[in-house]
Amino acid sequence: MAVRYELIKTCSQTGARLGRLHTPHGTIDTPAFMPVGTLATVKTMSPEELKEMGSGIILSNTYHLFLRPGQDVVKEAGGLHQFMNWDRAILTDSGGFQVFSLSDLRKITEEGVSFRSHLSGEPLFISPEKSIEIQNALGADIIMAFDECPPYPADRDYVKQSMERTYRWLKRCVDAHQRPEEQGLFGIVQGGMYGDLRKESVRQITSIDLPGYAIGGLSVGEPKELMYEALEQTTPLLPTDKPRYLMGVGSPDALVEGVLRGVDMFDCVLPTRIARNGTTMTSEGRIVVRNAKYTRDFGPLDPECDCYTCRNYSRAYLRHLFKAEETLGLRLTTYHNLYFLLKLMEGVRQAIREDQLQAFRDQFFTKYYGSTN
Ligand code: GUN
Ligand code: ZN
Repeated sequence: MAVRYELIKTCSQTGARLGRLHTPHGTIDTPAFMPVGTLATVKTMSPEELKEMGSGIILSNTYHLFLRPGQDVVKEAGGLHQFMNWDRAILTDSGGFQVFSLSDLRKITEEGVSFRSHLSGEPLFISPEKSIEIQNALGADIIMAFDECPPYPADRDYVKQSMERTYRWLKRCVDAHQRPEEQGLFGIVQGGMYGDLRKESVRQITSIDLPGYAIGGLSVGEPKELMYEALEQTTPLLPTDKPRYLMGVGSPDALVEGVLRGVDMFDCVLPTRIARNGTTMTSEGRIVVRNAKYTRDFGPLDPECDCYTCRNYSRAYLRHLFKAEETLGLRLTTYHNLYFLLKLMEGVRQAIREDQLQAFRDQFFTKYYGSTN
């Protein structure tokens, strides 16, 4: 098996789990956050910096690499790890979600999705077989099934059709997968906000033995409470000996709430995206470094953080870099935000170890958001 999950401990009070994910490119302690490197780069960060901050796995995107530079180029380079000089684990998303959020004129049929490139306008087509072919060429440690993620809100009948199709597509992905010994294929549960459809989707997707299962179709604009409810209807039905990956989730509150409900893996562009417009996550909540009130603030961004940025630079300097549009500013805030979430997950894992996750949650929420809810 390319990917193997080792369950170390289950929390006695909550659904939280402590585990290890073994991959051909190293072992990842879970619950884990995966920084997003859409175009075979975590924007502004070098692989050395990602390693230094303690990242064991990053995510990249089939859709983007298919469009540019093309999977043949990446394969010729020796695969995605070699191409981007990253020797730790990589997960690639399948393109199903990105086609829907980015491309123009898309049309979905049973065969697959036709669309126009958001770069060139060129007509293209991705099917489950094509997505797996691309992901086999890219060579990530974990690859994702080609699924359909319905928007929110969507009517029940549409969500039911797309969830059934996601299952049929999963079977085609499994048949198309050429490298199961090197790359673990994860299935994706859909079903939107409909409890019975989610339940049926879990039943369908887990009827196929896979090295991991993802929860898709969430964090698509629904209220947070609905997402937590959907999680509560999903994770208890998933096999306990396989990792659960909640796709596209990465706000600090949702990470902790997700772990409490039994999620092991997360990814999100949030920390890197907001960093590039000068918004940072600190132990006392968000700080927008552009703000004039930091002009003469010569203290660190986050006094409780020991990252490279916080050890060496002041808020006043970061503000100056953003005002002057200097690219170092983007790098320093990105470094800090990723470090902050990786440290948060380390704290979460330690709290599970000590049976203190609920207290950790309340303490973190009080400091970060100013209240426990
Ligand atoms: N990223 C966030 N949500 C999803 C989803 O439902 N499916 C896929 N493939 N990627 C996602
Ligand atoms: Zn920091």
